[in-house]
Amino acid sequence: MKTILITGASSGIGKETAILFAEKGWNVAATMRSPEKLSIFAENRNISTYLLDVKNKDSIRECIQHVIQDFSKIDAIVNNAGIYTINPLELSSDEIIDDILETNIKGVLYTTKAILEHFRENKSGVIVNISSIAGRATFPFQSVYHTSKWAIEGFSESLYYELEPIGIKVKVVEPGVVKTELYNSVLDSPLEQYPDEYRDRFKKSHHSLINNYKNGYSPKQDAQTIYKAVNSRNSKLRYPSDNTTKLAFFLRALLPLSVFQKIIKRLNGI
Ligand SMILES: NC(=O)c1ccc[n+]([C@@H]2O[C@H](COP(=O)([O-])OP(=O)(O)OC[C@H]3O[C@@H](n4cnc5c(N)ncnc54)[C@H](OP(=O)(O)O)[C@@H]3O)[C@@H](O)[C@H]2O)c1
Repeated sequence: MKTILITGASSGIGKETAILFAEKGWNVAATMRSPEKLSIFAENRNISTYLLDVKNKDSIRECIQHVIQDFSKIDAIVNNAGIYTINPLELSSDEIIDDILETNIKGVLYTTKAILEHFRENKSGVIVNISSIAGRATFPFQSVYHTSKWAIEGFSESLYYELEPIGIKVKVVEPGVVKTELYNSVLDSPLEQYPDEYRDRFKKSHHSLINNYKNGYSPKQDAQTIYKAVNSRNSKLRYPSDNTTKLAFFLRALLPLSVFQKIIKRLNGI
């Protein structure tokens, strides 16, 4: 039986990915940062839960060692844990900027670094990094989040060259707008405190985001995309998860940037 380790498996895409891989007969090491959530898969025999906070290097190393001890081999990891923000940069707290960079970028780099010796010794392994539609296209007031997801795209693309010759695959899964808990922290915004220069435009962009979120698709779809990426026999790097993301990337690559920017402004009503 193969074994997969997933970060941020306590909700959303990570949780659905754990459930799907278990259904398909994999051993699943579902890792999460919150001890009180460790029992969420108690009913599922193929899913074992572990503590792993991607902001804590000791926690990453200890968790990976623990999973290797339990299953003797890890075949794939999914760097899924992530957080989100939407705000004008000027109004983004230093704490949220640091949190995004530490969770969404450093968390992925340190978790990947920690698994590499094991994968190299096995001459095999699959690394799936969860990027986003926000990893290759851009939207207003999301500069901090974009910084993290564009970083993951470049990181993965470079790592692909480095690891392919030694049998380790790198995959990037790119979800669109998914109905998960990711947006819980940004549902309300204290708009009355915003300077005039930002308020109306931010309100429209925020409204458009929340509308898209309400019509978002199920994280089960991304779990299917991750399953496809992990089990692929070829070395394809990128897996956009839904048609909107595919269209956005197609237009971004095809159109002059100035035309793409006009479309984004119109879609955001700004
Ligand atoms: N939802 C979307 O529309 C969307 C679109 C594109 C990309 N993505 C990406 O998909 C990934 C999963 O997000 P989601 O939509 O499934 O959101 P979610 O339901 O909020 O899940 C995020 C998970 O990450 C965990 N997490 C956050 N900080 C962590 C840390 N320091 N250490 C370990 N785990 C941590 C959360 O744990 P807690 O339960 O303890 O908070 C949660 O389990 C993220 O990388 C996100 O950027 C999502």
